[in-house]
Amino acid sequence: MRNPRHPLSELLTQRHSCRAFLDEPVPLSDIRHILQAARRAPSGANLQPGMFHIYTGEPLAEMTTQLALIAQQPPEEELYSYFPRPMPVYLKQRQREAGYALYQALDIHKRDIEGRRRQFAANYRFFDAPVGIVVTLHREMGAGCFMDLGMALMSFFLSAQELGYGTCGIGALANYGRAIHQLLALPEQETVICGIALGRPDMTAAVNGFRTARAPAEEYSTLHGFTDREDGI
Ligand SMILES: Cc1cc2nc3c(=O)[nH]c(=O)nc-3n(C[C@H](O)[C@H](O)[C@H](O)COP(=O)(O)O)c2cc1C
Repeated sequence: MRNPRHPLSELLTQRHSCRAFLDEPVPLSDIRHILQAARRAPSGANLQPGMFHIYTGEPLAEMTTQLALIAQQPPEEELYSYFPRPMPVYLKQRQREAGYALYQALDIHKRDIEGRRRQFAANYRFFDAPVGIVVTLHREMGAGCFMDLGMALMSFFLSAQELGYGTCGIGALANYGRAIHQLLALPEQETVICGIALGRPDMTAAVNGFRTARAPAEEYSTLHGFTDREDGI
């Protein structure tokens, strides 16, 4: 189903991380459309870094069966650093709020370790999406290429959203990047960065029923030289 009539602002506000999917295959023509949109993202010197390894059907089932075993091991030493250590208080607060919203939607209580473990394990099943994607970067790429890859990911998410699909980034895959690299026999020069779950969203699922908040613009921007400020300051 192609419905390219959603204004960008609508796609941006409606997109959210989808963690429950309908059991409906995604046609290859839609995958190609979304991939092309992702590749339209700008990148420094037009290097277009990043690879999308896309799995569905039996190969996806085989991967997730193996991943379930892999994810029982302690996380590997990280291949790239994601979060600052230690995490500043204001970031910790945002992380907590997003976590609470997720667990509250699932009715998983603070001390329900088993419930939390179960939800975390769902990362390694791509949240049972019909399509699971492993995103890699060339291992020699500089840190700037993460910007490029981020833009490609957002273009991917929005294009998928435009076609009525849900997506979720899965940084948790990088906890086992080396094992996944080996499992999928990925090219030597690639490093696993994250995953993506893709499919039709199950909007009856409680886990898809919450939305995360965002900081107000004053917290992440400063304005200089504007003469049309509404507060007259
Ligand atoms: C690169 C990336 C990695 C992510 N990794 C995970 C993950 O491993 N597990 C998960 O449940 N959500 C993951 N998320 C989803 C974030 O938690 C989510 O984007 C954030 O809380 C904001 O919520 P929203 O996407 O619904 O707006 C990831 C998102 C991105 C962009």
